Amino acid sequence: MAEVLLCQRNDLESGTARRFDHEGTRIALARVGDQFFAIGDRCSHEDFSLSLGAVHVDTCEIECERHGASFDLTSGAAVSFPATVPVATYEVIVDGDDVKVVLP
Ligand code: FES
Repeated sequence: MAEVLLCQRNDLESGTARRFDHEGTRIALARVGDQFFAIGDRCSHEDFSLSLGAVHVDTCEIECERHGASFDLTSGAAVSFPATVPVATYEVIVDGDDVKVVLP
């Protein structure tokens, strides 16, 4: 397990996501209010970057820009078609202004 510094809190506004790459792992970091969520940045329907999609703060989901599947940011579950398989989730640690992710 490794804690990896991704960014500062204010680098990401609520309702947005950004992609980070760390040693071959693609991470989509999303912000909903003051909470941060990290999921695998690869749609389970096809290989497409989820961080390019819309973050829905009301439902805490991210919508794949390619075909519209949505994923629960808290669990990684696919909540709408055409995706049916969940994506990975990673623990996020907010340490002061630092936003870190825990990678296996
Ligand atoms: S690639 Fe994401 S829904 Fe098709």
